[in-house]
Amino acid sequence: MSDSNIQEAVKQKYGEAAKRAAGGGTACCGGGAQLSGCDPITRDLYGEAEKSSLPEKAVAASLGCGNPTALAKLQPGEIVLDLGSGGGIDVILSAKRVGPSGKAYGLDMTDEMLALARENQKKAGVENVEFLKGTIENIPLPDDSVDVIISNCVINLSGDKDRVLSEAFRVLKPSGRLAVSDVVVRGEVPADIRKSMELWVGCIAGALEEYEYKDKLYAAGFEAVDVEPTRVYKVEEARDFLSAAGLDADTVGPQIDGKFISAFIRANKPARRGNVIGPSCCGPSCCA
Ligand SMILES: C[S@@+](CC[C@H](N)C(=O)[O-])C[C@H]1O[C@@H](n2cnc3c(N)ncnc32)[C@H](O)[C@@H]1O
Repeated sequence: MSDSNIQEAVKQKYGEAAKRAAGGGTACCGGGAQLSGCDPITRDLYGEAEKSSLPEKAVAASLGCGNPTALAKLQPGEIVLDLGSGGGIDVILSAKRVGPSGKAYGLDMTDEMLALARENQKKAGVENVEFLKGTIENIPLPDDSVDVIISNCVINLSGDKDRVLSEAFRVLKPSGRLAVSDVVVRGEVPADIRKSMELWVGCIAGALEEYEYKDKLYAAGFEAVDVEPTRVYKVEEARDFLSAAGLDADTVGPQIDGKFISAFIRANKPARRGNVIGPSCCGPSCCA
């Protein structure tokens, strides 16, 4: 599938998911009741206190696989950008954490998600929020303008992850940080099984292997890259989904058990040294 076809398919899926959430259902994005496998992925990501502070539809529209705002250590006054902000849950939480002197941007390409997010923002009564329409491959913000980039289960959906990471690097301020939740694969998984599992965990997904993710982050210019598992998916949780996809969980189990994980991925943009952005410490000759 070409990159633009992937984007169109993703837009359609999430447009439908947004309409379900706007109509009072949950945004679960599996292929109908039988193939609906979102629950084990999106369940229990947010604490009760967080959920009770949010509009009901923002919680119902949650399609993430982690809680990046809790892990990103956001500070008052910071500018945050959420790549693929969906119904806006992490943008609203970020806006509360950075307070009125800070700002939270949400970026999404799907009109229905943007409409739902703006409705949720209004209900939450947060003003330091702006939802932008655009793609994470072409972020509509200037260079060096954001302190923290968060994202929740979106980068795996992009057909051009190198471009996403280089755009993230561009818009971050020097010393800015990337703090995203995403699905990651650990080790070898046969292609057909991988495809079914990815559909289960990510609707339409292209999860990277852990080492590929790290390599791409370093190639984009980041430093201090770290991948921390936050949830390991067991084959039991995907049993019904796999059998609906024609795969026998007992047979394929050993090939996939524990290999699909949700992870919290951290990386920093190096600090500015003079007029150049360089590693925050590159040895006595340049750090003295
Ligand atoms: C899995 S949902 C996650 C939504 C949100 N982060 C959450 O935690 O609920 C993916 C979201 O990313 C958006 N998205 C996917 N690919 C995108 C792209 N290339 N550019 C912009 N938005 C994208 C979709 O429209 C959808 O709203």
